[in-house]
Amino acid sequence: MRIDKFISELGVASRKEAASLAKKGAVTVNGVAVKDLSKHIDPNKDKVVFLGRELTYERFVWIMLNKPEGYVSATEDTKLPPVTDLLSAELRARGLFPVGRLDKDTLGLMILTNDGERAHRLLSPKRHVSKKYRFLAAEPIPSGAEKLFSEGVTLKDGYECKPAILECDEDRLGGVITLTEGKYHQIKRMIASLGNKVVYLERIEFAEIPLDKSLARGESRPLTEDELAKLLSAADL
Ligand code: URA
Repeated sequence: MRIDKFISELGVASRKEAASLAKKGAVTVNGVAVKDLSKHIDPNKDKVVFLGRELTYERFVWIMLNKPEGYVSATEDTKLPPVTDLLSAELRARGLFPVGRLDKDTLGLMILTNDGERAHRLLSPKRHVSKKYRFLAAEPIPSGAEKLFSEGVTLKDGYECKPAILECDEDRLGGVITLTEGKYHQIKRMIASLGNKVVYLERIEFAEIPLDKSLARGESRPLTEDELAKLLSAADL
């Protein structure tokens, strides 16, 4: 693997930052300063030190992806491309999968990992991890819907949702909904229970980690140490 890729995938610096620091001697491989980060290393064998800190190849990887439309939240599918197609070959080789699901037409923040045990615990209904969605609806949302959502909307099939926070835009044609659960098509079904229809849906926050606005649709990056700590503490891990 290229040294600059190794450094950027660990989330300690971008390739550009690493390249400029390497010129000043900040990167050593097996004790020797390396200025050209296009050189390859074996992450399992070579000792890479960046700004005095040894970089270890983490067994588990956590990635933030800005999901575009048209991708399914899976690692394979017979009809549509899976979100994992958006990752580099190296990351795909590490067996990443999405933590939870977004519909194929939903955009935004998706976390991927290869840490099956912690992903499973993060998704447990017992943990109440919060998720925030920006939506647009076909018709204005009636006043009073905020109260209804805060008490728990009853879906058309009788399911009683947990209390959720609805914050409407001024024109009431959209807004932000915060959930602590993740049932199938939940936002669409909550809005449908008002006799309305979601026409745009984007996840903008997961476990209080906001979507990084500098990521274009389809782009991804590793979670920072702070983000990972936040994610794991939100789920008492
Ligand atoms: N609610 C939905 O209806 N769809 C999603 O993708 C996520 C939440």
